[in-house]
Amino acid sequence: MTPDRPAAAPDVADRATTGFSHGYDAQPAGRWAAPGRVNLIGEHTDYNDGFVLPFALPLRTVVAAGPQPGERWTVRSEIADQPVDFDAAEADSPGRVTGWGGYVAGVVWALREAGHAVPGARLAIASDVPLGSGLSSSAALEAAVLTALADLGGLDLPAAHRPRLAQRAENGYVGAPTGIMDQSAVLRCRAGHALFLDCRDESVEHIPFDLDAAGLAILVIDSRAPHRHADGEYASRRAACERAADLLGVPALRDVPVADLAAALERLPDDETRRRVRHVVTENQRVLDTVELLRAGRVPEIGPLLTASHASMRDDFEITVPEVDTAVEAALAAGALGARMTGGGFGGCVLALVGADRSDTVATAVRAAYAERGFTAPTTLTALPAPGTTRLP
Ligand code: GLA
Repeated sequence: MTPDRPAAAPDVADRATTGFSHGYDAQPAGRWAAPGRVNLIGEHTDYNDGFVLPFALPLRTVVAAGPQPGERWTVRSEIADQPVDFDAAEADSPGRVTGWGGYVAGVVWALREAGHAVPGARLAIASDVPLGSGLSSSAALEAAVLTALADLGGLDLPAAHRPRLAQRAENGYVGAPTGIMDQSAVLRCRAGHALFLDCRDESVEHIPFDLDAAGLAILVIDSRAPHRHADGEYASRRAACERAADLLGVPALRDVPVADLAAALERLPDDETRRRVRHVVTENQRVLDTVELLRAGRVPEIGPLLTASHASMRDDFEITVPEVDTAVEAALAAGALGARMTGGGFGGCVLALVGADRSDTVATAVRAAYAERGFTAPTTLTALPAPGTTRLP
């Protein structure tokens, strides 16, 4: 999904190293890579204490880093001409550092708030994860920075605690009320597996997801839809779910089993709330059903669950836009076994489960449908489950 970069462009890790050596006239102490992610199924379930099933993409953000004396952090990015520089006082004031630097300052803030002695550092960032496409470029940045600072400072930071810290950076410093899925995915995913995460207790199971063996592929289609009011709509969906849980007298919508859905819906005051709840409750069940099928090696059979998830997001949760609906419809018409929007909504990406030999046909069909409606041409990527965040050799 990097059509704008020529094929011969340097590897992302080399770009981070070069950014560091040119920017600071020194060599980095190390390089840390964090992937983007797609969510196979389980949308807007994470902040309802429910289930999600993301996997990591082969597109990565790399941070080259080295120590800097005192409590000072300097960050260079290949997308910015000027470095961002902040000290402890600025890191300790949520929202003070803005733009992409805010994610870095947010990580320093979250670590300091949790009582860690964060080492001063110089960092250089390069990324192949497209920005604003719903593939978790922000979580990738948070995870790479968090892991770099933890290693540089020798911080005692168990792997299972890291997603909450990265999420805290985003919620508490940047101010985006997101759930725990993206940070868990980029930090905890394994190659060849999807991550079955229970967002209530953060327990995980790595579910083998061998697309090659099944003769299948996941085509990721960037809808290129402009994000329309995505932040406000996300926050309002989250608030609606929390209000509904209150009305139903449960800690979170996760506590409404699908078998009790009809009775729960009768207790809700209006049609919109009923539809929001129906999405979350049925989506949790679709995640569980998908996991069962994957455990049994019945990969092609997850297709209808993906498509049902999309219908639920479109009709009940109302978070899709014409571009993503068009991509899903065109992919299905061209023979995809299932297709759905992935991520927070109002744009972003669609994933389609396709026969390995149908990937090009489906991509071409989606492009044709876009052209017919006058939408900006979509970009595509064939995704295989990649590893989570690592230190590079
Ligand atoms: C965004 C958020 C996640 C999750 C998804 C929707 O990606 O960052 O926490 O809520 O939307 O599933």
